[in-house]
Amino acid sequence: MALPIVDTFGRKHTYLRISLTDKCNLRCTYCMPQEDMQFMPTKWLMQADEIAYLAGLFVEMGVEKIRLTGGEPLVRKDAGDIISRLGKLAPSLTLTTNAVYIDQFLPQLKEAGVTSLNVSLDTLKEERFQAITKRDHFTKTLNHIRLLLDEGFVVKVNMVVMRGTNDDEVNDFVRMTLAEPNLHVRFIEFMPFKGNQWDLSKIVSYADLIANVSQEFEFQPVAGEVHDTARRFRVNGGAGTFGIIGTVTHPFCEGCNRIRLTADGKLKNCLFDTSEVDLLTPLRKGDDIRPLIYTHFQKKHFAHGGHASFTERQAKADYEQNREMIAIGG
Ligand code: 5AD
Ligand code: SF4
Repeated sequence: MALPIVDTFGRKHTYLRISLTDKCNLRCTYCMPQEDMQFMPTKWLMQADEIAYLAGLFVEMGVEKIRLTGGEPLVRKDAGDIISRLGKLAPSLTLTTNAVYIDQFLPQLKEAGVTSLNVSLDTLKEERFQAITKRDHFTKTLNHIRLLLDEGFVVKVNMVVMRGTNDDEVNDFVRMTLAEPNLHVRFIEFMPFKGNQWDLSKIVSYADLIANVSQEFEFQPVAGEVHDTARRFRVNGGAGTFGIIGTVTHPFCEGCNRIRLTADGKLKNCLFDTSEVDLLTPLRKGDDIRPLIYTHFQKKHFAHGGHASFTERQAKADYEQNREMIAIGG
């Protein structure tokens, strides 16, 4: 067993998010630029063997949970193989997906011990889905969420709430969870990334969301854990829950245990930290990459990758220096 990855704030990093690709079968406006998105050439991407090796190394360093992300992780031809291999070595494995291809992966997911998935869905209206994602996969997405629930998976629906785009649907999403014990929705405050037309005025804040749900429902908080990003609530008499990921107005950096690996093998110690360490090149040269990992986490900032706040005037310019969300991996 190697030493755990602990930063200077005493936070132990036990949760690894691996992006399998920056490609996606949707084009969500909040995630990627609408023009000039340059996808990575395939040879830059970590190969399945490299992913399995790195995952194994992180598990030795104390990682307990691995999440596969994208882009859309399931657009990769060898996604099934990667899921099977990581299922054997990670104590807990999960995925963030848009569910468009999920029907093709159910046996592998079950065999790999995946019991819970995060599914992105921002609207329950077909035309709006088309406007947000620029693709025509609304019915498929809804059907696949149903399929996952029928197959016994826990589904956490991620809804990025944007003022004037889909904020009138918040209570419809809450209503959807009432009779479904395995369905949880998480409202995510719109975050700034390169090329995603972020604006502070488009954020529907934690406080706004609470006020909005309160107009229709009575609810109680659900106890959480230190690493949780979502503060969760249950409507009185409801089966599932709703939660709020208030990155901008209610940061949860204090309990951060997250490590991010981009599809091209760069280590990020925070979603918002622009400094990255290349693990893939030294790995391909046969170097020992462990020291690079420990050193990078010694430099981890306490909050938001060292950016002062989201409200300062500079925020937009700062976040333009980062990658596109689709190239970081949720
Ligand atoms: N703000 C908030 N959440 C985002 N996601 C992608 N881009 C953003 C953004 N700008 C979320 C999506 C998806 C996950 C991978 O990241 O909801 O579920
Ligand atoms: Fe694809 Fe998810 Fe980004 Fe939408 S949010 S473009 S589904 S990776």
